[in-house]
Amino acid sequence: MRRLAVLISGSGSNLQAIINACKSQELSAHICIVVSNRKTAYGLERAKQANIPTLYFPLKPYNDAGKSRAEYDRDLAAQLQPYQPELIVLAGFMHIFSPAFLDSFPNTINLHPALPGQFPGAHAIQEAFEAFQQGKIDHSGCMVHVVTPELDAGPVIATAHVPFAEKDSLDTFTQRMHQAEHRLLIKALKNFIEKLESPRLD
Ligand code: GRF
Repeated sequence: MRRLAVLISGSGSNLQAIINACKSQELSAHICIVVSNRKTAYGLERAKQANIPTLYFPLKPYNDAGKSRAEYDRDLAAQLQPYQPELIVLAGFMHIFSPAFLDSFPNTINLHPALPGQFPGAHAIQEAFEAFQQGKIDHSGCMVHVVTPELDAGPVIATAHVPFAEKDSLDTFTQRMHQAEHRLLIKALKNFIEKLESPRLD
């Protein structure tokens, strides 16, 4: 039973997918803590409803005190240590981690709603939809990758294509993307946990 920490900033629909997969035992994992940098993130409510410990850990007090991102990252890592997570899942967490966090938790993975090398950053879904409207692409996708200090660019664990439909609006495409993400995230977690269970001998 691998111990997961899940970091969120928003509605937490991907967190909910993990909660459901743990409950159905599709995932042999246990969410030991959910962290949000936003107090109003509905994902915190989802965690509470699932009796999962939560931590609200905002960046603003660090900015206001003139402290660095590295201090925030280091302190967040220290807050997580007692829960002994073996895997950190960034499910819509809208901060970019520095080595100050990743050095403590190298097994950190991120879900991003675009294919490797495409549309990095916080507006990937909208940018992909605009590229489709301009006739530049006929599909987009999503990926789960290992987190490195470079934004949305670490080793890829799993990807899924998400097609466009002629009549798509941004909303219908976004819904299709999120459904693909929920499926991909569970698949990627299974792969990653299996690798942790049986590390390659070579
Ligand atoms: C997802 O699209 C994720 O890929 C992106 O932010 C969104 C989070 O959605 N980084 P939710 O909070 O899990 O519903």
